[in-house]
Amino acid sequence: MLGRLAIRHRLTPALEKAGGHIGYDVRPSARRQRHATAMLAAALPLACSLGITHALLTCDETNTASQRVIEANGGRSIDMAGHKRRYQVPTS
Ligand SMILES: CC(C)(COP(=O)(O)OP(=O)(O)OC[C@H]1O[C@@H](n2cnc3c(N)ncnc32)[C@H](O)[C@@H]1OP(=O)(O)O)[C@@H](O)C(=O)NCCC(=O)NCCS
Repeated sequence: MLGRLAIRHRLTPALEKAGGHIGYDVRPSARRQRHATAMLAAALPLACSLGITHALLTCDETNTASQRVIEANGGRSIDMAGHKRRYQVPTS
């Protein structure tokens, strides 16, 4: 197992602030090999097929790796919710 990714079909008020539609992590020994970037790219068409046109993703303001993963997949920063930066990522 290299990592895991979860697609949340619906947002709750809590997920709107932290968590969003998609969350992921990569095993520490397998990081920096582009797995997370590829995992998110593979997940976006699945989210689209669930009717999510723009996925909400959140990450800590200090999480540079996750921010790069999101931006490499077309994510656009929309705002901050507490210490979380929120992004909108088109799914198609
Ligand atoms: C965030 C995480 C999923 C990234 O996984 P990964 O497979 O290492 O990411 P990638 O290899 O696809 O790297 C994506 C970009 O981030 C950069 N990056 C990776 N780790 C980095 C680090 N520790 N510091 C700075 N940049 C980093 C890579 O260089 C790459 O940049 P590039 O596109 O400009 O070349 C992984 O670090 C992780 O599991 N972290 C803990 C859980 C977590 O934070 N999940 C996300 C919650 S929002």
